[in-house]
Formats: sequence, structure tokens, C-alpha cells
Amino acid sequence: MAADLSRISVTAKIAAYYRQFSDIAFAREVARRIGADDTFEQILREHGLERDKLTFYAPMFEARYKSISQLIGKSGCSQVLELASGYSLRGLDLTQSSAIRYVEADLPDVVATKLTLLDDVRRQHGIPPSPLHVVTVADALELEPVRTAAGALDHGLPLIVLCEGLIGYLTREETERLASNVRALLGAFGGGCWICPDFSFKAEVGSLPPERVRLREAITGVTQRQLDASAFADDGDLTAFLARVGFDVRVRSQIDETPALSSISALGLSPTWAERMRPLLRVWVMTPRSTS
Ligand SMILES: C[S@@+](CC[C@H](N)C(=O)[O-])C[C@H]1O[C@@H](n2cnc3c(N)ncnc32)[C@H](O)[C@@H]1O
Repeated sequence: MAADLSRISVTAKIAAYYRQFSDIAFAREVARRIGADDTFEQILREHGLERDKLTFYAPMFEARYKSISQLIGKSGCSQVLELASGYSLRGLDLTQSSAIRYVEADLPDVVATKLTLLDDVRRQHGIPPSPLHVVTVADALELEPVRTAAGALDHGLPLIVLCEGLIGYLTREETERLASNVRALLGAFGGGCWICPDFSFKAEVGSLPPERVRLREAITGVTQRQLDASAFADDGDLTAFLARVGFDVRVRSQIDETPALSSISALGLSPTWAERMRPLLRVWVMTPRSTS
């Protein structure tokens, strides 16, 4: 693993910070238990940012999370591998409310914290450990650990691979490694798809409002990663990239796939938020090309 990849891990606390304003299962408790407020406040303090000007991010994290969960449910697929899962508790939620088998993976430090977090949340809610839910270490940019993570899943059945919030921190070369790993993995299963909400386009990245630019600069400072370094020229560029790796792609609207956005009213944001953000909030569903 490249040494600097672990610097990305702090961003898992930012995602957890923003999800706490939603009704996503366990989100408020997770933020409290991992100290997400303190991490977020420190970033704001060190970069002179005002929290109140950044609340509009919360529904973005909510829509991203909920739209993926909705697509999993609609797929009817019974097994999931989530890469770079951070402190998201979708795995706990789905394995206690359905018969889905869920393996999730991240880098070592995050996994260590998450195992303690899961123990605490399970104890608090009287949820017994489940053989359906496995949390393990895997570098998503290396094929063998990814294969090993998925090793106990049923290779005769379809698999959904998730990756939420990682690609924005990767270079194009790393994005290609990730995509190739997912493609190779899916080729060993009885169908399935890769769901990812994170591809970006250069024109959109270049026209962000000033407060978003400043938070992104702060996150670049913390992670030492240029955000959206892998941004694509346009939709055609992304489709061609995915075809080269061996995927067909369909794009969905996160807003359409989100049953309800609770953080808009919880934070007193404009009711027009969803319509304004609709064109920017997408989730891509990639299936292995039959010809490759
Ligand atoms: C923005 S966070 C997203 C976490 C989670 N998916 C969520 O939405 O809350 C990015 C995550 O990517 C993880 N990560 C970074 N590089 C990774 C790699 N090479 N393999 C696996 N996980 C990685 C970090 O540790 C962090 O948890």
C-alpha cells in the first residue's frame, strides 16, 4: 500500500460527521462514538472555515448513502462487498434487517476502530454478531487482498461491489487499478455489478462555489491528495474508460433513488436543494461486458 493512502482515512470521519444530520440508521451514534465533531471542528479551525456555511453538504452524504442502499435492495442481490467502507454502518443495518451477506473492507487503522465501534453499537442495541457480516482489511488498489476479502462469498451467485467516497482521492492510474480489480473480481462471480457514486467531470469540478472550494482545499491539506485528480473530461471519456476496463455502465440519479432526504429539514436548508443538486448527484452501476 502506498504510505500516503492512510491519510485519506480521516475523510471517513467527515462522512460520518455529515451523516449524523440524517435519519440513516446508527448515523448519529456513530458520529458521537468516533468523535467526528471534534475532527470536523479541528479541520474548520485550522483552515478558518465556518461550519454554518457548510451544512449544505449533509444531504449530499445522505443521498449518496441512501441511493446506494436503495439500488442494493432493488437488485435482489444477496451478497455485497463494500470497499473503503469507513465508519458507515450499512453492513450492520442490512445484515440485521435482511438475509444479505455483507463483507466490508478498509485500511488497517480504520478497520481496528470500526471493529470496536461495531462491538459498542451491537452491545448498545442488543444486536448479536452475525456470520453474515464480516469486516476485514483490504487495500482496494491491490487485487489479492480484494479477492481474499471476497473469498468466503458464494462465487456461483451475483455480487455487488460498492465503493463510496474513495475515487475522489485517487489519481487516474489508481482509479484504473481499482476498476480493474473490481472487474477481475466480478469475473469470478455469477454476475453482479459495481456501484459507485464518485466519478467526477472536469467542468463541474472547475465551477464549484467558493465555500466548497475552501473545504476541498482544507481536505487536500489533511489528506495530501489533490481532490478529483481522476476527473473525466466528460461522460464519453468516462464511458470509454470503463469500456476499456471491461464494464458497461448505466447512470442513475441519487435524488431519484433516495426515498426521502431527512437532513434538508433537520438543518433548515432550502426545499429547492434537491432539484438544484439533482444534475450533479449521480450513481453509476457498472456491469461486466460480456465480450471482455
Ligand atoms: C471518504 S472515506 C469514505 C468512507 C465510507 N465509504 C463512507 O462513505 O463513509 C474514504 C475511505 O477510503 C479508505 N481508503 C483509502 N484508501 C484505501 C485503499 N487503498 N483501500 C481501501 N480503503 C481505502 C479510507 O480509509 C476511508 O475510510
